[in-house]
Amino acid sequence: MKIGIDKIGFHIPDYYVDMNDLAVARDVEPAKFTIGIGQDAMAVAPISQDPVTLAANAALNILDEADREAIDFVMFGTETGIDHSKSAGVYVHRLLDLQPNARTIEMKQACYGGTAALQLAKGHIALNPESKVLVLASDIARYGLNTAGEVTQGAGAVAMVISANPKIITIENDSTFLTSDIMDFWRPTYSDVAYVDGKYSNEQYLSFVSQVWNKYKEETSLSLDDFEAICFHLPYTKMGIKALETLLEEGNEETKQRLQNNLEVSIQYSREVGNIYTASLYLGLISLLEGKELNAGERLGLFSYGSGAVGEFFTGVVQENYRDHLNVDHHKALFANRKKLSIEEYEEVFSATLPTDGSTVTLDTTDDSSAICLTGITEHMRQYANNN
Ligand code: COA
Repeated sequence: MKIGIDKIGFHIPDYYVDMNDLAVARDVEPAKFTIGIGQDAMAVAPISQDPVTLAANAALNILDEADREAIDFVMFGTETGIDHSKSAGVYVHRLLDLQPNARTIEMKQACYGGTAALQLAKGHIALNPESKVLVLASDIARYGLNTAGEVTQGAGAVAMVISANPKIITIENDSTFLTSDIMDFWRPTYSDVAYVDGKYSNEQYLSFVSQVWNKYKEETSLSLDDFEAICFHLPYTKMGIKALETLLEEGNEETKQRLQNNLEVSIQYSREVGNIYTASLYLGLISLLEGKELNAGERLGLFSYGSGAVGEFFTGVVQENYRDHLNVDHHKALFANRKKLSIEEYEEVFSATLPTDGSTVTLDTTDDSSAICLTGITEHMRQYANNN
């Protein structure tokens, strides 16, 4: 049975910061951010957008009534948890008005959570071919003002419907993965910003790429020549370029050129959004699917990495007329309608936090164009509204 991604879409908040502005404000050569890191902009979430609303807004645009009836499993990958107990997915289940007889859970393993959900969704569909799974990957990457990681922040979410006979790509069964207990990036429960050993994390990421790729080659006898494109987890787009370089020591000239050209297409959206952790790999996939006319039957490689660390290399095969099922215009409009923040405005938005002492707050959402917003907190309970 063919199982894979039947629908896919993303959501980003209204605000962004231009990396040239950030570089000037931080007294850094702008080329370091735009070339050395490979980012042109980063999305900034207002206080009325959190992982729940970003994910719900991403899903709102791809679901129809048939999906709402068929979805019996919601899996929410995130590392921006808003609650130690309740799954972020349960809020989304209500906000999207999904039929009640569904399982809903949250998955965590740093940026790997979305891939974990996708692979488990595949298993669920294999046992229940009539059902559909809503996979959500949603995060707000925060390292803090004036930190080395600041340039690699971002905010956004990807939503995918996983089903049998999917319209976008099938996910093949060959997949290689690896776990290693390392401290390259983590966020203790008392901290709202991540701790990261950036250089070590980059090294480990690249080592994972080589290890899972070599194992994949051994197990499948496929080579780089069998791939039209490879998408990578993108904590920042230069990381994807470095990852592909490590693989391109093999492969003929034509293959190298093709993979480099297609990587360039796959990093376009991330250059404008920044790191969205669990959703970054999938934003890269959407950038490729929307930015290029792929042919049915072409094989795509996907490398997922979640610090701490778990990595996986897996593959998808492009389906006939897949472009008819994308939301290119909607996604273009999301970018076109964004408002650029000055650095002062960004610092103000970044520093605004929700109360942690149980006090009630009502948020002003009039400037937030997203359909689903966080409207406040009452007696420790987040309040959401769907203005659609
Ligand atoms: N023009 C062009 N490139 C420039 C430059 C300039 N003027 N100045 C510096 N650079 C390049 C550097 O050569 C380097 O490139 P390289 O990596 O190919 O060597 C790159 O810009 C970054 O410079 P570096 O000095 O290494 O940056 P940094 O110490 O500020 O740290 C990160 C960069 C990415 C390590 C840091 O932002 C970070 O830790 N981010 C978080 C990463 C993360 O999320 N990891 C976990 C998930 S996988």
